[in-house]
Amino acid sequence: MNKANWPLTTAGASSSTKSARRTPSSSSPFTLAERLFSTGDDRRAAKAVEDGIVLLEERLVAETVFHDGMAEVSARYLLDAGGKRVRPLLAFLTAQLGEGVTDDVVTAATSIELIHLASLYHDDVMDEAEQRRGVPTAHTVWSNSIAILTGDLLFARASKLLSILGERAIRLQADTFERLCLGQLHETVGPRDTEDPIVHYLQVLADKTGSLIAASAQLGILVSRAPHEYEQPVFDFGEKIGIAFQLVDDVIDLAPASDATGKTAGTDIRAGVVTLPLLYLRRDAATDPRAADLLRRLDPATIAVTPAAEVDALIAELRAHPVTAETVAESRRFAADAVAALDPLPEGTVKKTLVRFAATMVERSN
Ligand code: FPP
Ligand code: MG
Repeated sequence: MNKANWPLTTAGASSSTKSARRTPSSSSPFTLAERLFSTGDDRRAAKAVEDGIVLLEERLVAETVFHDGMAEVSARYLLDAGGKRVRPLLAFLTAQLGEGVTDDVVTAATSIELIHLASLYHDDVMDEAEQRRGVPTAHTVWSNSIAILTGDLLFARASKLLSILGERAIRLQADTFERLCLGQLHETVGPRDTEDPIVHYLQVLADKTGSLIAASAQLGILVSRAPHEYEQPVFDFGEKIGIAFQLVDDVIDLAPASDATGKTAGTDIRAGVVTLPLLYLRRDAATDPRAADLLRRLDPATIAVTPAAEVDALIAELRAHPVTAETVAESRRFAADAVAALDPLPEGTVKKTLVRFAATMVERSN
């Protein structure tokens, strides 16, 4: 099996996506970086990225020291629970097009990871999530107020770090923060009557997930003083691969409970969370009575009073429905667009590894 196609897990860490069901139950003996670099020539870049991750972990701990016991315990809580460090890894990789993993690049990556962490504390309050990275969410351990304030503290630290890096980095962070909030807001409010729900959904994914991944890739270029003309290509790559990643999540949600993921099939469907297969089904239901019937049976209120075995069969029906294959195809289209955005980059380790990164994101099974 191609290493790039192995399930995406990082030794000793757990998933940072959709609550408990995203926690991998199996782990590859290879770290993400090891799976991205294979040839001898690539190993130099791999070593730089691996070393960067070690420095990042040290900086993350240093930047979550507070002269307040409560603040420090809650700020370290999710950090200690693990995470794949996908965003820093991307920044370290694109920095190979410039001066490499310099101290400034580690600072930028630390800031990005702190913003990501901050957003998770807030998101779990909004989603009333019970688990994250295999541990109870901060607001269930303490309270909503503590979780929200912890997110704010982490965001303050992230801002302080980026201020070292100059105006463009600060501006990029502000633009990204705005998009994170707007993505979350638009998800909460839902599409307007005049808006296509599928277009709306894809824009939400671009804003709430794609924007920070895009910013990570761009910061790697900006802060390592790589050629300016590479900023837009890697930004576009990051945004599109972020959308592809989320669409794969929508499909993984439908995977049977008995497979390697070890989670309940259809967690999102049961909770009434909008996913692309469901949106496609709603679209089809207008003209296809069988799609309308399946949609009616998938209603969370109906599911709540349906026997467990029947719910599993229902999720299997959605999994086998063409709307799921259409979602897979859409995720692959976004991954292909991400790769196409890299055209202006020079041939070499960075471009090749980003292409493998894209494959890893969409071929993962948990
Ligand atoms: C997870 O989505 C949420 C995000 C990717 C972004 C959340 C953004 C905010 C809360 C606004 C920004 C706030 C700060 C402090 C930077 P999800 O619920 O679909 O994924 P999940 O399964 O991982 O929870
Ligand atoms: Mg959430």
